[in-house]
Amino acid sequence: MSKKPYRVAVIGGDGIGPEVTQAALDVVRAAGVQVETTDYELGAARYLKDGFVLDDKTLEELRGYDAIMLGAIGPAIGDTRIPGGVLERGLLLRMRFGLDLYINYRPFRGVPGSIAQGCEFAIVRENTEGPYAGEGGVLRHGTPFEIATQGSVNTRHGVERCVRYAFERANRLSRKKLTLVHKTNVLTFAGELWSRVVREVGAEYPDVEVDYNHVDAACIYLVENPSRYGIIVTDNLFGDILSDLAGAVSGGIGFAASANLDPTKKSASIFEPVHGAAHDIAGKNLANPLAAVSSAILMLEHLGESDAASRITKVVQAFNGDVASLGTSGITKQLIGEL
Ligand code: IPM
Ligand code: MN
Repeated sequence: MSKKPYRVAVIGGDGIGPEVTQAALDVVRAAGVQVETTDYELGAARYLKDGFVLDDKTLEELRGYDAIMLGAIGPAIGDTRIPGGVLERGLLLRMRFGLDLYINYRPFRGVPGSIAQGCEFAIVRENTEGPYAGEGGVLRHGTPFEIATQGSVNTRHGVERCVRYAFERANRLSRKKLTLVHKTNVLTFAGELWSRVVREVGAEYPDVEVDYNHVDAACIYLVENPSRYGIIVTDNLFGDILSDLAGAVSGGIGFAASANLDPTKKSASIFEPVHGAAHDIAGKNLANPLAAVSSAILMLEHLGESDAASRITKVVQAFNGDVASLGTSGITKQLIGEL
Protein backbone atom coordinates (compact mmCIF):
# COMPACT_ATOMS: atom_id res chain seq x y z
CA MET A 1 0.00 0.00 0.00
CA SER A 2 1.19 3.52 -0.77
CA LYS A 3 1.53 5.92 2.14
CA LYS A 4 -1.09 8.46 1.24
CA PRO A 5 -3.92 8.99 -1.17
CA TYR A 6 -2.54 10.94 -4.12
CA ARG A 7 -4.64 13.82 -5.37
CA VAL A 8 -5.11 13.28 -9.10
CA ALA A 9 -6.97 15.54 -11.52
CA VAL A 10 -8.70 13.54 -14.22
CA ILE A 11 -9.41 15.05 -17.62
CA GLY A 12 -11.10 12.17 -19.40
CA GLY A 13 -11.86 14.37 -22.37
CA ASP A 14 -13.57 13.14 -25.51
CA GLY A 15 -14.38 9.90 -27.33
CA ILE A 16 -12.60 6.93 -25.76
CA GLY A 17 -10.67 9.23 -23.38
CA PRO A 18 -12.89 8.74 -20.29
CA GLU A 19 -13.13 4.94 -20.62
CA VAL A 20 -9.39 4.30 -21.06
CA THR A 21 -8.60 6.70 -18.20
CA GLN A 22 -11.05 4.90 -15.94
CA ALA A 23 -9.46 1.57 -16.87
CA ALA A 24 -6.02 2.95 -16.01
CA LEU A 25 -7.29 4.22 -12.64
CA ASP A 26 -8.82 0.81 -11.87
CA VAL A 27 -5.45 -0.83 -12.53
CA VAL A 28 -3.57 1.72 -10.40
CA ARG A 29 -5.94 1.14 -7.47
CA ALA A 30 -5.72 -2.63 -7.91
CA ALA A 31 -1.94 -2.27 -7.51
CA GLY A 32 -2.57 -0.84 -4.04
CA VAL A 33 -2.01 2.84 -4.75
CA GLN A 34 -4.59 5.13 -3.20
CA VAL A 35 -5.80 7.94 -5.40
CA GLU A 36 -8.39 10.59 -4.76
CA THR A 37 -9.64 11.93 -8.08
CA THR A 38 -11.27 15.17 -9.15
CA ASP A 39 -12.86 15.22 -12.59
CA TYR A 40 -12.40 18.17 -14.91
CA GLU A 41 -14.79 18.42 -17.82
CA LEU A 42 -12.55 19.85 -20.53
CA GLY A 43 -12.20 19.21 -24.26
CA ALA A 44 -14.33 19.24 -27.39
CA ALA A 45 -17.61 18.21 -25.78
CA ARG A 46 -17.23 20.88 -23.09
CA TYR A 47 -16.36 23.55 -25.65
CA LEU A 48 -19.38 22.64 -27.74
CA LYS A 49 -21.58 22.76 -24.64
CA ASP A 50 -20.67 26.21 -23.29
CA GLY A 51 -17.63 27.56 -25.11
CA PHE A 52 -15.24 26.97 -22.19
CA VAL A 53 -11.70 25.86 -23.03
CA LEU A 54 -9.47 26.70 -20.02
CA ASP A 55 -9.00 29.71 -17.77
CA ASP A 56 -6.26 30.90 -15.39
CA LYS A 57 -8.15 29.77 -12.31
CA THR A 58 -8.53 26.19 -13.56
CA LEU A 59 -4.91 26.11 -14.71
CA GLU A 60 -3.73 27.18 -11.25
CA GLU A 61 -5.93 24.56 -9.64
CA LEU A 62 -4.50 21.87 -11.90
CA ARG A 63 -0.96 22.91 -11.00
CA GLY A 64 -1.52 21.95 -7.39
CA TYR A 65 -2.42 18.26 -7.87
CA ASP A 66 0.04 15.41 -7.43
CA ALA A 67 -0.62 14.45 -11.06
CA ILE A 68 -3.04 14.93 -13.94
CA MET A 69 -4.38 12.01 -15.95
CA LEU A 70 -5.63 12.92 -19.39
CA GLY A 71 -7.58 10.66 -21.76
CA ALA A 72 -7.93 12.27 -25.18
CA ILE A 73 -9.03 15.64 -26.47
CA GLY A 74 -10.64 16.37 -29.80
CA PRO A 75 -13.83 16.33 -31.88
CA ALA A 76 -14.86 13.48 -34.15
CA ILE A 77 -13.24 13.37 -37.57
CA GLY A 78 -15.33 15.46 -39.96
CA ASP A 79 -16.86 17.56 -37.18
CA THR A 80 -15.88 21.05 -38.29
CA ARG A 81 -17.55 23.04 -35.52
CA ILE A 82 -14.29 23.69 -33.66
CA PRO A 83 -11.66 25.69 -35.56
CA GLY A 84 -8.21 24.09 -35.61
CA GLY A 85 -6.05 25.32 -32.77
CA VAL A 86 -8.84 26.18 -30.32
CA LEU A 87 -8.31 23.03 -28.26
CA GLU A 88 -4.72 22.29 -29.30
CA ARG A 89 -3.36 25.72 -28.42
CA GLY A 90 -6.08 26.75 -25.99
CA LEU A 91 -6.11 23.63 -23.85
CA LEU A 92 -3.31 21.10 -24.50
CA LEU A 93 -0.47 23.50 -25.23
CA ARG A 94 -1.71 26.01 -22.68
CA MET A 95 -1.41 23.35 -20.00
CA ARG A 96 2.02 22.21 -21.23
CA PHE A 97 3.34 25.77 -21.42
CA GLY A 98 1.48 27.19 -18.41
CA LEU A 99 2.62 24.36 -16.12
CA ASP A 100 6.08 24.45 -17.76
CA LEU A 101 5.99 20.73 -18.53
CA TYR A 102 9.19 20.96 -20.49
CA ILE A 103 9.71 17.27 -21.20
CA ASN A 104 7.48 15.05 -23.28
CA TYR A 105 8.74 11.56 -22.46
CA ARG A 106 7.55 8.78 -24.75
CA PRO A 107 8.87 5.26 -24.21
CA PHE A 108 8.41 2.54 -26.83
CA ARG A 109 8.68 -1.21 -26.66
CA GLY A 110 8.14 -3.22 -29.83
CA VAL A 111 5.35 -5.75 -29.26
CA PRO A 112 5.68 -9.24 -30.79
CA GLY A 113 4.99 -9.11 -34.50
CA SER A 114 5.83 -5.41 -34.84
CA ILE A 115 8.74 -3.98 -36.82
CA ALA A 116 10.44 -2.96 -33.57
CA GLN A 117 9.80 -6.30 -31.88
CA GLY A 118 12.26 -6.76 -29.02
CA CYS A 119 13.48 -3.15 -29.14
CA GLU A 120 13.13 -0.67 -26.30
CA PHE A 121 13.85 3.00 -26.74
CA ALA A 122 12.39 6.34 -25.73
CA ILE A 123 11.90 9.77 -27.20
CA VAL A 124 12.64 12.79 -25.04
CA ARG A 125 10.81 15.59 -26.79
CA GLU A 126 11.31 19.23 -25.84
CA ASN A 127 7.78 20.32 -24.91
CA THR A 128 7.60 24.11 -24.57
CA GLU A 129 9.53 25.63 -27.48
CA GLY A 130 10.39 24.99 -31.14
CA PRO A 131 7.79 25.79 -33.79
CA TYR A 132 5.10 25.15 -31.15
CA ALA A 133 6.03 28.28 -29.18
CA GLY A 134 3.67 30.49 -31.18
CA GLU A 135 6.26 32.86 -32.61
CA GLY A 136 5.26 34.53 -35.87
CA GLY A 137 2.10 35.88 -37.36
CA VAL A 138 0.23 36.89 -40.45
CA LEU A 139 0.50 40.12 -42.44
CA ARG A 140 -1.72 41.31 -45.31
CA HIS A 141 -4.13 38.49 -44.54
CA GLY A 142 -6.21 37.35 -47.49
CA THR A 143 -4.36 39.47 -50.01
CA PRO A 144 -2.16 38.09 -52.79
CA PHE A 145 0.80 39.45 -50.78
CA GLU A 146 -0.07 37.58 -47.62
CA ILE A 147 2.84 36.61 -45.37
CA ALA A 148 2.69 33.87 -42.74
CA THR A 149 5.69 33.19 -40.53
CA GLN A 150 6.02 30.59 -37.80
CA GLY A 151 9.44 30.67 -36.21
CA SER A 152 11.14 27.97 -34.20
CA VAL A 153 12.12 29.18 -30.75
CA ASN A 154 15.15 27.49 -29.19
CA THR A 155 16.50 28.96 -25.97
CA ARG A 156 19.75 27.91 -24.33
CA HIS A 157 17.76 27.36 -21.13
CA GLY A 158 15.07 25.25 -22.83
CA VAL A 159 17.46 23.16 -24.89
CA GLU A 160 19.85 22.57 -22.02
CA ARG A 161 17.24 21.40 -19.51
CA CYS A 162 15.81 19.01 -22.10
CA VAL A 163 19.21 17.63 -23.11
CA ARG A 164 20.19 17.25 -19.45
CA TYR A 165 17.04 15.26 -18.73
CA ALA A 166 17.76 13.03 -21.72
CA PHE A 167 21.31 12.34 -20.54
CA GLU A 168 20.01 11.52 -17.05
CA ARG A 169 17.64 8.98 -18.63
CA ALA A 170 20.31 7.53 -20.90
CA ASN A 171 22.73 7.22 -18.01
CA ARG A 172 20.25 5.00 -16.15
CA LEU A 173 19.83 2.53 -19.04
CA SER A 174 21.82 -0.66 -19.28
CA ARG A 175 22.70 0.39 -22.82
CA LYS A 176 23.67 4.03 -22.34
CA LYS A 177 23.10 5.60 -25.71
CA LEU A 178 21.72 9.01 -26.64
CA THR A 179 20.94 10.13 -30.18
CA LEU A 180 20.28 13.76 -31.01
CA VAL A 181 17.83 14.00 -33.90
CA HIS A 182 17.68 17.31 -35.77
CA LYS A 183 18.25 18.80 -39.19
CA THR A 184 21.50 20.60 -38.48
CA ASN A 185 22.49 20.71 -42.15
CA VAL A 186 19.57 23.01 -42.97
CA LEU A 187 18.30 24.46 -39.69
CA THR A 188 21.80 25.67 -38.92
CA PHE A 189 21.02 28.20 -36.17
CA ALA A 190 18.90 25.94 -34.02
CA GLY A 191 20.92 22.89 -35.04
CA GLU A 192 24.20 24.39 -33.89
CA LEU A 193 22.71 25.27 -30.51
CA TRP A 194 21.32 21.75 -29.99
CA SER A 195 24.59 20.11 -31.12
CA ARG A 196 26.73 22.33 -28.91
CA VAL A 197 24.53 21.76 -25.87
CA VAL A 198 24.63 17.99 -26.44
CA ARG A 199 28.44 18.16 -26.68
CA GLU A 200 28.78 20.27 -23.54
CA VAL A 201 26.30 18.40 -21.35
CA GLY A 202 27.56 15.09 -22.76
CA ALA A 203 30.99 15.83 -21.33
CA GLU A 204 29.40 15.39 -17.88
CA TYR A 205 28.18 11.90 -18.84
CA PRO A 206 31.27 10.07 -20.06
CA ASP A 207 29.52 6.67 -19.92
CA VAL A 208 26.83 7.70 -22.40
CA GLU A 209 27.55 7.03 -26.06
CA VAL A 210 26.38 9.99 -28.16
CA ASP A 211 25.15 9.77 -31.73
CA TYR A 212 23.49 12.17 -34.17
CA ASN A 213 20.92 11.54 -36.94
CA HIS A 214 19.25 13.93 -39.32
CA VAL A 215 15.50 13.65 -38.83
CA ASP A 216 14.82 12.31 -42.31
CA ALA A 217 17.40 9.57 -41.85
CA ALA A 218 15.97 8.81 -38.41
CA CYS A 219 12.64 8.01 -40.10
CA ILE A 220 14.38 5.35 -42.18
CA TYR A 221 16.34 3.95 -39.24
CA LEU A 222 13.22 3.75 -37.06
CA VAL A 223 11.68 1.47 -39.67
CA GLU A 224 14.78 -0.45 -40.77
CA ASN A 225 16.85 -0.67 -37.61
CA PRO A 226 15.07 0.63 -34.48
CA SER A 227 17.46 -1.33 -32.26
CA ARG A 228 20.09 1.36 -32.80
CA TYR A 229 18.25 3.70 -30.42
CA GLY A 230 18.33 4.10 -26.65
CA ILE A 231 17.24 7.66 -25.89
CA ILE A 232 16.34 9.99 -28.76
CA VAL A 233 16.44 13.66 -27.80
CA THR A 234 14.86 16.16 -30.17
CA ASP A 235 12.87 19.34 -30.54
CA ASN A 236 9.13 19.73 -30.14
CA LEU A 237 8.01 19.26 -33.76
CA PHE A 238 10.48 16.53 -34.72
CA GLY A 239 9.53 14.76 -31.49
CA ASP A 240 5.84 14.98 -32.32
CA ILE A 241 6.32 13.42 -35.75
CA LEU A 242 8.90 10.83 -34.72
CA SER A 243 6.81 9.61 -31.83
CA ASP A 244 3.90 8.75 -34.13
CA LEU A 245 6.29 6.80 -36.35
CA ALA A 246 7.86 5.14 -33.31
CA GLY A 247 4.38 4.17 -32.12
CA ALA A 248 3.52 2.68 -35.49
CA VAL A 249 6.67 0.53 -35.71
CA SER A 250 6.26 -0.60 -32.08
CA GLY A 251 2.84 -2.16 -32.65
CA GLY A 252 0.53 0.78 -33.04
CA ILE A 253 -0.37 3.95 -31.29
CA GLY A 254 -2.79 1.90 -29.14
CA PHE A 255 0.18 0.97 -26.95
CA ALA A 256 2.06 4.28 -26.82
CA ALA A 257 2.28 6.14 -23.51
CA SER A 258 3.44 9.66 -22.79
CA ALA A 259 4.28 11.90 -19.88
CA ASN A 260 4.35 15.70 -20.00
CA LEU A 261 6.77 16.30 -17.19
CA ASP A 262 7.94 19.02 -14.91
CA PRO A 263 10.94 17.10 -13.55
CA THR A 264 11.37 19.79 -10.85
CA LYS A 265 7.88 18.83 -9.55
CA LYS A 266 6.83 22.45 -9.07
CA SER A 267 3.67 21.75 -11.10
CA ALA A 268 1.59 18.64 -11.63
CA SER A 269 2.72 16.61 -14.64
CA ILE A 270 0.25 15.27 -17.22
CA PHE A 271 0.09 11.60 -18.17
CA GLU A 272 -1.72 10.76 -21.38
CA PRO A 273 -1.80 8.10 -24.08
CA VAL A 274 -0.40 9.26 -27.44
CA HIS A 275 -3.55 8.15 -29.28
CA GLY A 276 -6.54 10.37 -29.99
CA ALA A 277 -10.23 10.33 -29.08
CA ALA A 278 -11.34 7.69 -31.67
CA HIS A 279 -15.01 8.74 -31.49
CA ASP A 280 -16.01 5.94 -33.87
CA ILE A 281 -15.33 3.29 -31.24
CA ALA A 282 -16.23 5.29 -28.11
CA GLY A 283 -18.58 3.69 -25.60
CA LYS A 284 -18.47 0.31 -27.38
CA ASN A 285 -15.97 -1.45 -25.12
CA LEU A 286 -13.55 -1.56 -28.07
CA ALA A 287 -10.86 0.87 -26.93
CA ASN A 288 -7.43 -0.53 -26.03
CA PRO A 289 -6.63 0.78 -22.54
CA LEU A 290 -2.98 -0.36 -22.61
CA ALA A 291 -1.61 3.05 -23.65
CA ALA A 292 -3.52 4.73 -20.82
CA VAL A 293 -2.37 2.05 -18.37
CA SER A 294 1.23 2.52 -19.54
CA SER A 295 0.86 6.27 -19.07
CA ALA A 296 -0.35 5.59 -15.53
CA ILE A 297 2.85 3.56 -14.98
CA LEU A 298 4.83 6.69 -15.90
CA MET A 299 2.72 8.60 -13.38
CA LEU A 300 3.52 6.10 -10.63
CA GLU A 301 7.23 6.30 -11.45
CA HIS A 302 7.04 10.09 -11.26
CA LEU A 303 5.26 9.88 -7.89
CA GLY A 304 7.94 7.54 -6.56
CA GLU A 305 5.63 4.51 -6.46
CA SER A 306 8.24 2.35 -8.16
CA ASP A 307 7.01 -0.91 -6.68
CA ALA A 308 3.47 -0.54 -8.03
CA ALA A 309 4.90 0.78 -11.30
CA SER A 310 7.07 -2.26 -11.84
CA ARG A 311 4.30 -4.69 -10.90
CA ILE A 312 1.93 -3.11 -13.45
CA THR A 313 4.74 -3.00 -16.01
CA LYS A 314 5.21 -6.75 -15.64
CA VAL A 315 1.56 -7.57 -16.28
CA VAL A 316 1.32 -5.13 -19.20
CA GLN A 317 4.43 -6.61 -20.81
CA ALA A 318 3.20 -10.16 -20.24
CA PHE A 319 -0.24 -9.37 -21.66
CA ASN A 320 -0.78 -11.37 -24.82
CA GLY A 321 -4.57 -11.46 -24.99
CA ASP A 322 -6.51 -10.58 -28.09
CA VAL A 323 -7.24 -6.86 -27.78
CA ALA A 324 -10.20 -6.94 -30.16
CA SER A 325 -12.07 -9.84 -28.58
CA LEU A 326 -11.37 -8.95 -24.93
CA GLY A 327 -12.37 -5.31 -25.28
CA THR A 328 -11.64 -2.53 -22.81
CA SER A 329 -13.22 -4.22 -19.80
CA GLY A 330 -11.81 -7.66 -20.61
CA ILE A 331 -8.27 -6.34 -20.91
CA THR A 332 -8.62 -4.35 -17.70
CA LYS A 333 -10.00 -7.37 -15.82
CA GLN A 334 -7.18 -9.56 -17.06
CA LEU A 335 -4.52 -7.04 -16.00
CA ILE A 336 -6.10 -6.66 -12.56
CA GLY A 337 -6.43 -10.43 -12.19
CA GLU A 338 -2.73 -10.88 -12.83
CA LEU A 339 -1.55 -8.17 -10.46
C1 IPM B 1 0.64 15.01 -29.36
C2 IPM B 1 -0.42 15.68 -30.19
C3 IPM B 1 -0.40 17.16 -29.88
C4 IPM B 1 0.97 17.69 -30.26
C5 IPM B 1 -1.49 18.01 -30.56
C6 IPM B 1 -2.85 17.42 -30.36
C7 IPM B 1 -1.43 19.44 -30.09
O1 IPM B 1 -0.23 15.43 -31.54
O2 IPM B 1 0.53 15.04 -28.13
O3 IPM B 1 1.56 14.42 -29.92
O4 IPM B 1 1.19 18.10 -31.40
O5 IPM B 1 1.83 17.71 -29.39
MN1 MN C 1 1.40 14.06 -31.95
